Amino acid sequence: MILGTDERSIEKAGKIIAGGGLVAFPTETVYGLGASAFREDSVKKIYEAKGRPSDNPLIVHIADVTDIDRLTAECSEKARALIEAFMPGPFTVILKKSGAIPDTVTAGMDTVAVRYPENETAQRLIRAAGVPIAAPSANLSGKPSPTEARHVIDDMTGRIDAVIDGGSCDVGVESTIVDASGVIPVLLRPGGITYEQIKSVVPEAVIDPNILRSLDEGERPRCPGMKYKHYAPEAEVTVVEGDMAAARRKIGELLEENADKVCGVLTMSENAYDSAVILCGGKTNREYARNLFAMLREFDRLGVEVVFAEFEERDGYGLAVRNRLYKAAAQRVIHV
Ligand code: TXA
Ligand code: MG
Repeated sequence: MILGTDERSIEKAGKIIAGGGLVAFPTETVYGLGASAFREDSVKKIYEAKGRPSDNPLIVHIADVTDIDRLTAECSEKARALIEAFMPGPFTVILKKSGAIPDTVTAGMDTVAVRYPENETAQRLIRAAGVPIAAPSANLSGKPSPTEARHVIDDMTGRIDAVIDGGSCDVGVESTIVDASGVIPVLLRPGGITYEQIKSVVPEAVIDPNILRSLDEGERPRCPGMKYKHYAPEAEVTVVEGDMAAARRKIGELLEENADKVCGVLTMSENAYDSAVILCGGKTNREYARNLFAMLREFDRLGVEVVFAEFEERDGYGLAVRNRLYKAAAQRVIHV
């Protein structure tokens, strides 16, 4: 069922969640696939619908900061400062969990990830449901996250009860995750709030070194989701990173070498190529973040077999874009 954002639709969606069903909904980052965070049976359905490994925990979405006290066991001064600064917003905080959260939500971990989205439709849905909503991104496991309702429909038709169509997501990449359950807050996933913004509130905050590298066999990252294949379109993606003039020369050569395949280029400028399917990510990293997942899905729709993605770090969103691009490319990165 496709629902709008009118009052009746939101009420209906809230009832589906409270009754144990699954509803996909827009947030400012990406679409989420929501279930009542208090119902183990519904949360299990999320893992089934996505084909998600059961050791990968979910984020719990709230629409009132005071709910954090109910969901968590302790909250340091630094965590409180981050919450005060970035909630509501594209930000997720990890804290020691309370007994209110079933183990299925947190995949057995003793911490819980909490997020208070800024998107009004998301907030209205959480209030209508009357419970916190556990929600991963609403894509099939391993696919690019959905930033439009039709992406959710493509992946999830027949697997969920409803999707609320709230248009395109503004941020386009997922929330920034900070683990604030220890003494020093650690940035586990770069996203809609930049590292610079985090440091302006907690200068000691550090970045998890796994953000830009691949994990070794059997290695267990702090953020379980990091070890899985991610954001991967059908097309084989290669990132060409560095000075833009050099990147264009390199991609020109690669296009010639791959002339027998359907090639695509994800650019950071107007069209600089003539022998490929060209999609523009955006001139700023902020714009690139907004468009990235939709472009990856679009290449697949157009039957593109290999994609070369230009990338240059230009602003605070660079880290988030790079992290998603490296994963989409399974670490195939050429530095120029
Ligand atoms: O913007 C977002 O955060 C979106 C929207 C829907 O809110 N949600 C999202 O959820 O991206 P998901 O499930 O696709 O990504 C959540 C990530 C996973 O990598 C998971 O392993 C990690 O958060 N995570 C969840 N709980 C955790 C915990 N207690 N400790 C460490 N990592 C955790
Ligand atoms: Mg996801």
